[in-house]
Formats: sequence, C-alpha cells, structure tokens
Amino acid sequence: MEFRLSQKAVHLRRCMMDAFHLRNATDMIFFNAGQPAVSILPAAMLREVWDDMLTSEPQVLAYPSARGDEEFLQAVAERMDRLGVAPGVKSSQLIATNGGTGAADLLAQLFIDPNDLVLTETPTFPETLDCFYKDYARLAGVPMDEDGPLPDELEKLVKKETPRFFYVIPNFQNPTGRCTSLERRKAIVALARKYGFFIVEDDPYHELSFDAAPPASYYSLAPDCTIYMGSLSKTVAPGVRTGWLILPESVMERAAMLQKATVLSYPAVIHRAMARLLRRPDFDAHVDELRLDLKRRYELLTKHLSAAVHPEQMTWETPLGGMFLWCHLHTGENAMDFATRVRDKHRVAFFPGVCFTPDYTGEEHSVRFTFARQTDEQLAEGVRRIAAALNEKA
Ligand SMILES: Cc1ncc(COP(=O)(O)O)c(C=O)c1O
Repeated sequence: MEFRLSQKAVHLRRCMMDAFHLRNATDMIFFNAGQPAVSILPAAMLREVWDDMLTSEPQVLAYPSARGDEEFLQAVAERMDRLGVAPGVKSSQLIATNGGTGAADLLAQLFIDPNDLVLTETPTFPETLDCFYKDYARLAGVPMDEDGPLPDELEKLVKKETPRFFYVIPNFQNPTGRCTSLERRKAIVALARKYGFFIVEDDPYHELSFDAAPPASYYSLAPDCTIYMGSLSKTVAPGVRTGWLILPESVMERAAMLQKATVLSYPAVIHRAMARLLRRPDFDAHVDELRLDLKRRYELLTKHLSAAVHPEQMTWETPLGGMFLWCHLHTGENAMDFATRVRDKHRVAFFPGVCFTPDYTGEEHSVRFTFARQTDEQLAEGVRRIAAALNEKA
C-alpha cells in the first residue's frame, strides 16, 4: 500500500536545527528552550484549582462550545482589560486556542490563501511562521533594530504589494528580547491604516518585564486593525496548551465554524481551571515571582558572560524582560558552524540566528541563548564551555 501524502504534508518545512533528539543527553546544557524552569511552575496552585473545580463544577466535563469555555474567555477578557492590553474587551470578542501555536494556525486557516503575502519582523519566532507557511503563505521579513521593525522598510514592501497581515512580537521578542518602542508602534499602525493591512500582535511575554511594563499594545492603539494573540505558556506552563485570539466581530462566526470543523473545541476542563487560576488573588504574585526569577537569571548569565567573553569575540543586546539573550559573534565564524561545533564538541545547545529568519537566510553572526530554565550551576558551566569554544580556533 502506498500512503501518498498530501501536498500540504510534503510542503511542510523542517526546523533548521532541531535539538529535540538531544533532550535526554545528560552531558548537554540547554540554552535553547524558551520555557520557565519546572521548579517555578504553579503546580500547587493548579492542584488546588483542579480539585476544587472537579468537586464543585463537574458539569465542566460536558462538551464545550466551539469558541471555548465561557468562564475562561471572561477571565481572560478581565485580565486583558486590567493590564490595559485590550481596554474594555468583551469575552464575545475572544476565541480559545491550543496555545499561541493554535492561534497562529487558526489565523492561517481564516486568512491565508495559497501564495498570499505575510510580512513578519526578521528575525522572529519560526514556529509561528511554519503555521503560515503550511497554508502556503509567501513570507517576507521586515528588518528591525533595537527599537523594533523599521517603518521605512515596511513601507517599501507594502507599497509593492499589500500583505494579508504583518506579524509582530512587540514585547521581549523571541529571539531578540527587543521591545518595540511606542513611536514605532504608532508608525506601524499609521502604515497599516494607510495601506490597508492588519497587524497580528503575538504577545506571550507581555507580563514578563524585568522592571517597567511595556509600552501600549498595538491592540490598545488600534483595535480596528489589530488581531491580538495571547498564551499562558510562559506565565502558567506550556503543557496547559492554552491561548486565545481577540478577533473582529465580523470574522468570529467563521472562526468558530473552523474550530468546530477541526477540533470541535479545546478542553473546557483545562480552560475552566485556567479561569480559576487567573482569578486567584495570588496569581499576580506568581507572575511577579516568575519575572523577578527571569531577571535574576538574566543578570547571572550576563555576569558570567562579561567575565569570560571579550567584546571582540561576542557582544549581546540588553533585553528588558522575557527569556532571550540575542548575541552577536565578532569572530568571523558563521553562527550555524559555531552552534554546531559547540553542540557537538562542548555539549551546549542553542540556536543560530538564521533559524529565526523567514526564508532561512541572514543573521549569519547572531545566536540566541535562553536563560529561563537552567540551574545556576548550568548557567555558569554553559558560559565556561561557550567561552572555551570562542577561545579555540574554529
Ligand atoms: C513569540 C511566540 N509566539 C508563540 C509561541 C508559541 O507558544 P505556545 O504555542 O506554547 O503558546 C512562542 C513559544 O515560544 C513564542 O515565543
């Protein structure tokens, strides 16, 4: 029997540098995963929430509606309103998804026809791009600097062709850690209105600032031309697979129909538990603990790097929150060769910059380190190994 694959399955692209097969290697240090340390995940809170919910609300085990559990949508709307991300947003404007990835997939199904142009910042988070790519989007990158995507570069592209949308990660971006300035956000909104495309604002790191809250969201600046993507993967746990979209009313019915035709709905038991978690008075304290933990880890990582690495070898940008350190190699060695050499010989895993580009070209001298989940000893040892690799001849 020949199990002939669909064109879509064949069209999918592989991750450029998958380290999944190494995850059980005990000699490896992982600077590659953007997820909080297991020790800081709110397991005790979740257990309480879960027990209480199943005792007092067993009806949550029934079929949920396609848009997701209403209590969950309300709890998210309240939080988005309170954080100022989406002032006044109503639960009827939200749809629950399987994390940010499920949100990206739903967007792809809703908006992308084969060969449609989708613009993204470059560098950016590649897995979301894969969701758009699998539905045959043409991807093009808008270069950025430390203040975010460059409006002039965006305008050059949209003048030639109106994209379906512009995908952005404004806060503590993956992979660069950059936070788009308010001026840039306003300039990009002005271009969206002038040229008639919408902005997809992917914001899983919003609450993870080291100090000050990030600037006004695109959604709060321009709800008429923004679709907002949220996720609890970074503030609760990636394993809960919980995310959402704030959608324009005009497309909500079709979004719910698509959801029904693909997954029926997402697990209401998880989402109701998330609603209860978000409404607990101690949830904010958990998020505070998490962001301060990330700040401490960032300071530790850069303290070790500053002591061991000469600026002529490598420099790094200063993130104001999140989980990522974007580093620039000055040794002349290609970052893919460097990352492969360090992984195979020195046993530290991290991603070279090219993995974060829409067409897998560019960023030849950048690498991304994460600092979210290693022990203090692993952070120190990882830097020692990276410094040793920088000091030896490639
Ligand atoms: C910017 C961004 N968007 C989306 C995701 C997807 O996460 P999830 O599907 O777990 O919500 C990630 C994960 O690292 C991310 O960094």
